[in-house]
Amino acid sequence: MIELRGALVTAEAPRGGVGRRRGPAPADGPVRILGPVDLTLPERRIAVVGANGSGKSTLARLLNGLALPAAGRVLVDGLDTARDGHAVRRRVGFLFTDPDAQIVMPTPVEDVALSLRRTGVPAGDRDARAREVLARVGLAERADLPVRALSGGQRQLLALAAVLATEPEILVCDEPTTLLDLRWRRVITDLVAHLEQQVVLVTHDLNAAAQTDRVLVVDDGRIVADGAPEPTLAAYRALMAADDEVRPR
Ligand SMILES: Nc1ncnc2c1ncn2[C@@H]1O[C@H](COP(=O)(O)OP(=O)(O)OP(=O)(O)O)[C@@H](O)[C@H]1O
Ligand SMILES: [Mg+2]
Repeated sequence: MIELRGALVTAEAPRGGVGRRRGPAPADGPVRILGPVDLTLPERRIAVVGANGSGKSTLARLLNGLALPAAGRVLVDGLDTARDGHAVRRRVGFLFTDPDAQIVMPTPVEDVALSLRRTGVPAGDRDARAREVLARVGLAERADLPVRALSGGQRQLLALAAVLATEPEILVCDEPTTLLDLRWRRVITDLVAHLEQQVVLVTHDLNAAAQTDRVLVVDDGRIVADGAPEPTLAAYRALMAADDEVRPR
């Protein structure tokens, strides 16, 4: 289970006026990006929603140690992301918005085999295991094609396969469908929805968020609403509508 205890993320660089930030521009020196956040996340399906620049990706990256808190702690099954980063990343897989950020090999089967190498599967078993995982996401026929011949949706399937190959207990997905057309959005959303893993899904797709067990709303680096999907998404819509009145876009 993931637990955040007073987790605070700061950055050295001044952020200027970019993003959804209120108040005066910060002076040079550490600035608060997110938190402090206290959360315990036992639910099987959790959605994270919020405006651009609100801190969703920062929260997502905290969960597997891609970002470390400047203060406070993030624990996964009791392991501290700051001290046991490797063990945490074995448990928590991460799917990025842009599959090209995580595909490194020239063909799908080689890319998934590389993930298997990292998790200690013997060399002689990797090719067959990689093909099995690719078949699970519907890419069996394309296992040996050059990656550049795959569509954006197929590349996201490959990125998902490479993460699933490592058999994580938890999958954090940071807007995995944002770059995809409607048809591919549905394919990826359905696949993710049916995974056996616990899933934390950052999304702007409020229909997908409505299908989860719990929704977190991030605004200006804070969790401003947290609860069952229906009331929490209503609170998020109201927040966005109020913001439009204050500051027309
Ligand atoms: N290393 C950093 N240095 C300075 N500012 C940062 C850094 N990382 C994030 N930020 C700022 O913190 C804020 C939150 O960023 P984050 O990427 O978490 O937002 P987000 O909610 O994921 O946005 P989007 O919906 O656009 O993906 C942004 O204003 C961003 O510019
Ligand atoms: Mg983001």
